[in-house]
Amino acid sequence: MAKKGKNKEARLKAPKMSKTADRYALYLQSVQAPDVDAAFFSKVYKKEFGQPAKTLREDFCGTFAVCCEWAKRGDDMVAYGVDLDPEPLAWGATHNLLPLSEAQKARVHTLEADVRAANTPKVDVLAAQNFSYCIFKTRQELARYFKVAHDSLADKGVFVLDLFGGYESIEDNKEETTEHDGFDYIWEQHKYDPINAYGTYKIHFRFPDGSQMKNAFVYDWRLWTIPEVREVLHEVGFGQVDVYWEGTDPKTQEGSGRYYKALQADCDPAWTCYIVGVKGA
Ligand SMILES: C[S@@+](CC[C@H](N)C(=O)[O-])C[C@H]1O[C@@H](n2cnc3c(N)ncnc32)[C@H](O)[C@@H]1O
Repeated sequence: MAKKGKNKEARLKAPKMSKTADRYALYLQSVQAPDVDAAFFSKVYKKEFGQPAKTLREDFCGTFAVCCEWAKRGDDMVAYGVDLDPEPLAWGATHNLLPLSEAQKARVHTLEADVRAANTPKVDVLAAQNFSYCIFKTRQELARYFKVAHDSLADKGVFVLDLFGGYESIEDNKEETTEHDGFDYIWEQHKYDPINAYGTYKIHFRFPDGSQMKNAFVYDWRLWTIPEVREVLHEVGFGQVDVYWEGTDPKTQEGSGRYYKALQADCDPAWTCYIVGVKGA
């Protein structure tokens, strides 16, 4: 039996959990729900056009987890993931793509490219998730990207964006911690400037040994409002633009995780929503 002193020594020598943890795996576990996203995109397309969507382009795809879920949904489901960073693409190839069947793998394609320049076949659904398009900080830049999205859709298609907001989302120097299996997820609202609506947001992870992975992901965004996004979508040619607002669970009075088309909403201190541009409605 090892002596107590030796155990302590071994503990001290063991690498800190923050040094060995995989930030992409933690992100997937704490931020993403790719199966829920893929199901929502399918539902929205079917609702608009009465037929199932077959092709998806996932912009800012990172580890293209949604593409992989999409390919699993049926034998004729094809997905294209676009990201300019080779690192998450490589991680996704090993961790998200590899477990798929050969047939599913053959229907997932990735492009290391800028979303504004990526050339993909026209798709039924184009998705830009986790607020990634907020890197575009002027109306002109946003419109340029939305125009590319419009042109990349088939004659009938939906462009699905998400957005967050509410007065709590612009409080800076604020952290919110969520517990997960084996780690804590920390969302930091670092800084928000009301004059230009630029915000810096950070993700950190904390581990049971007390160590922290600081700044695992850092985002410099313009926090667009729903009316701004809707107006720009209309300007680039989307004839119909809908907002899907989160329903309320009657038991908890918290968000239900299910989103419905809405024209009006109560003043929620911290909300997320989907904004859907419909082409060919
Ligand atoms: C917030 S992550 C989103 C990851 C994933 N889509 C999700 O929903 O969680 C943003 C990703 O966008 C990529 N990115 C940033 N600017 C880009 C651009 N102009 N074109 C393509 N990808 C870009 C980054 O490399 C990063 O992987």
